[in-house]
Amino acid sequence: MLVVLTLFTKIVLYVGLLGSAGLCLQAYITGAQSRRLIAGFAFLLSAAVCLRLFLMNAELAGGLEDSLDFSLFGWVWTPNRDQTLAYVIGALVLFISAALGLKWLSVPGLITIFAGAGLGGHTHGMDTPGLNPVFVSIHVAIAAFWVTAPIVLWPVKTMSDTDLLQCMKRFSAVAIWSIPTLIAGGVWLSLQIGGSVSTLVESDYGRLLAIKFGLALVALGVGAVNKFWVTLQINKDPAAGRRLLHQTLTVDCLLFIGIIIAIASATSLTGPGA
Ligand code: HEM
Repeated sequence: MLVVLTLFTKIVLYVGLLGSAGLCLQAYITGAQSRRLIAGFAFLLSAAVCLRLFLMNAELAGGLEDSLDFSLFGWVWTPNRDQTLAYVIGALVLFISAALGLKWLSVPGLITIFAGAGLGGHTHGMDTPGLNPVFVSIHVAIAAFWVTAPIVLWPVKTMSDTDLLQCMKRFSAVAIWSIPTLIAGGVWLSLQIGGSVSTLVESDYGRLLAIKFGLALVALGVGAVNKFWVTLQINKDPAAGRRLLHQTLTVDCLLFIGIIIAIASATSLTGPGA
């Protein structure tokens, strides 16, 4: 039961993290405003971070039945303090920025949250982490931008064809260089943390990263279909083009759910060398 709760909490944490930060980035890049969703995802992030600490304490105390025994909590708090504070403070700032419509306030919120991503994870278990924690921060920032694409590009009736095409154009202008950077950075991090391809494929951790890599390559392919074909269709026959976009974005959602489950499993149920 504790394992299932731990995995579920990590998935919710990533959904809150990528959702809140990603939609703030989208407000700057595509101009799409999603204040209510940002506030909701930010709340989800801070709740999941607190629940994760509680579950870690329960694990150390010997199980859920002892989860209210906080005598060993110091062993949970010390290694997780910095990332927890960065995520909770960052989420609070994004929540306030969305609730009050103070767009500029999302900048310090985003910096805090992405810095938080670099303050945890397996790069901190390396003998010499070097710049890898920074690469994780950049990786998570681009991932947040990418996985929120289906939300801002969803062809809702209230969005005109012109606005939709403009939004796709602005998204694509950043996606064309950032997504290959994310994938290359992910491969680099996998080899830095896992050691080599042979050790990676022999571990559950490595196999989960390979699944993530495969799903991301398929999502990259779907992105190319959107850029080079669906956009043309929307220009030529908006109704048919919108139906196509509906389908490709649905495929994207399923791929991103698979990716989030894979990374949540890799970082909470197993690890390099496990
Ligand atoms: C849409 C695509 C992707 C998303 C949403 C995504 C998301 C994430 C997130 C949220 C983390 C931070 C984990 C943490 O420290 O708690 C992460 C770390 C990582 N990602 Fe990705 N990622 C994506 C693509 C990739 C790809 C293509 C690879 C290549 C194999 C990759 C490899 C890694 C590695 C090695 C880490 C470090 C994990 C650790 O600390 O153990 N990612 N990713």
